[in-house]
Amino acid sequence: MSLYSVFKFAAFRLDPEAAHHLSLSMLSHFPKSSAELFNTPEVDPRLSLKVGSMNWSFPVGLAAGLDKNGEAIEFFSRILFGAVEIGTVTPLEQPGNDKPRLFRYVEEESLRNRMGFNNHGMEALASNVTSSLRFGKTLGINLGKNKNTKAEDAPSDYAKLYQRLAPLADYLVINVSSPNTPGLRDLQSTESLKLIFSELEKHRTQCPKPLYLKISPDMATEDLDALFQVCHDYNLEGIIATNTTIMADRGEGGISGRLLYPKAQHFRLKCLERLKGSSLEMIGVGGFADFSEVLDYWSHGGRALQIYTSFIFQGPQILSQWQNEILEVLKITGARDLEELLKNPKELGSIELS
Ligand SMILES: Cc1cc2nc3c(=O)[nH]c(=O)nc-3n(C[C@H](O)[C@H](O)[C@H](O)COP(=O)(O)O)c2cc1C
Repeated sequence: MSLYSVFKFAAFRLDPEAAHHLSLSMLSHFPKSSAELFNTPEVDPRLSLKVGSMNWSFPVGLAAGLDKNGEAIEFFSRILFGAVEIGTVTPLEQPGNDKPRLFRYVEEESLRNRMGFNNHGMEALASNVTSSLRFGKTLGINLGKNKNTKAEDAPSDYAKLYQRLAPLADYLVINVSSPNTPGLRDLQSTESLKLIFSELEKHRTQCPKPLYLKISPDMATEDLDALFQVCHDYNLEGIIATNTTIMADRGEGGISGRLLYPKAQHFRLKCLERLKGSSLEMIGVGGFADFSEVLDYWSHGGRALQIYTSFIFQGPQILSQWQNEILEVLKITGARDLEELLKNPKELGSIELS
């Protein structure tokens, strides 16, 4: 039995949000000993990956929402993650929705959340980033508007956040895809995005950093071409696909984990088809739990990815296990490193691991 199984056995007896806060508090107070306890291996240098203009030390990053305030950056930087995305942060602190707002589906290795961007605001996050050890790990900051900010003032919220936080980040993400802030997903329309991106332009000139847009798997795929055109026109580096999905029969909020995977993967493949030949990068997220799913994503031209829910259910060893599996694939195919492996994606779909 692994140490994480023991930890999980105890944590899963607590209310999900209480377990979350307790774990994050342990990881933020004891980052070094927690990372040592989970016996994290070194990253193999052959597994670094170019992601747009960035370089990730490993192809799998931490998805937004787990460390909303950047309290445990050091811990997440010490383990294998190739990049750590913190947030969603809003300009001002806000409490989020009423509790309970986080639910587990243990058998289905899935979560449902209706957190509503609970966070301590951009100043608290900035101070956590400045005081954290990162060991050169790529840091992303995910930005959202305050609940009380009217839709027409959303561009100003994103501009304030960009101006304050871009100097501290390696990349930034505009989040308009959470189902838990009323009206937020309406900002995915091309008209609203144009207003947000033009408001950001002068700040981006002053502090140019890779900018990504995180999108929902519930968007109509017919709208993707127009959306990608706007991202291209405003010089975004790429998109992050996907956020959580709504499953009305499960209740309010967004579903993540294995239940999300089929929809998210289908949506990602639609995005990849449309992005062929485009300069926009895609970071995949949503439901990845088994290495075969990563291989499938790569076989369709995907590259970097992120996880959240499978990290909760499987623990840090999901990363070391995937590292071993990627190394096995390198051996089978004779590829020198991950970059070379991803140059011939088609053959990856048929690989069988022992
Ligand atoms: C409890 C919880 C909170 C989340 N909060 C955020 C958030 O603040 N911002 C965001 O962009 N995504 C947030 N997400 C979405 C994740 O970043 C990710 O897109 C989604 O969970 C799908 O990935 P997964 O199946 O690997 O969890 C949250 C997810 C969960 C489960």
